[in-house]
Amino acid sequence: MTSKTLLIVCNTPSPNTEQLAQATYNGASDEAIEHVTAIFKTPLEATANDVLTASGIVLGTTENFGYMSGLMKDFLERIYYPCLEHTEGMPYALYVKAGNDGEGARTSVERIVTGLRWKPVQPATLLSGDFNSEFIDTCFELGMTVSAGIEAGIY
Ligand SMILES: Cc1cc2nc3c(=O)[nH]c(=O)nc-3n(C[C@H](O)[C@H](O)[C@H](O)COP(=O)(O)O)c2cc1C
Repeated sequence: MTSKTLLIVCNTPSPNTEQLAQATYNGASDEAIEHVTAIFKTPLEATANDVLTASGIVLGTTENFGYMSGLMKDFLERIYYPCLEHTEGMPYALYVKAGNDGEGARTSVERIVTGLRWKPVQPATLLSGDFNSEFIDTCFELGMTVSAGIEAGIY
């Protein structure tokens, strides 16, 4: 079986958000999943070609000023038109790390990926309030779920 790629794109402005991105990557790279290669890129590093060659995507953003992070918006702006006609149906998952809310970031990302006609594999994960180890577990499971789903071809 040929290997598929899961692209993970998260902004990580703090140690907590770095832990979430790492946990997502670790879950997606779980040894039980043999035929999916997880790739982590920051929004600045990620390109349209990374999206075009992926079989699924996990997006992770902080909520800043009631919206997605500026870096995530830059990423989505850069990839939007190059991907528009080529990634319809792309399975994706989203997590939002917020101080106390997360809805603004969620809706802003969902509006754009709806335009791209990407397909959510599950409702967005909102991680807000005091940082705790459950957030890390949740991101690990999120990465593993999406990666396993891609491997099984269920999306
Ligand atoms: C410029 C700026 C704007 C922010 N705006 C929001 C906001 O509108 N809503 C919210 O819930 N959190 C907001 N936050 C908090 C961030 O989401 C939070 O710092 C981020 O999730 C990282 O979390 P950490 O402090 O646990 O590392 C903001 C943070 C910054 C730096």
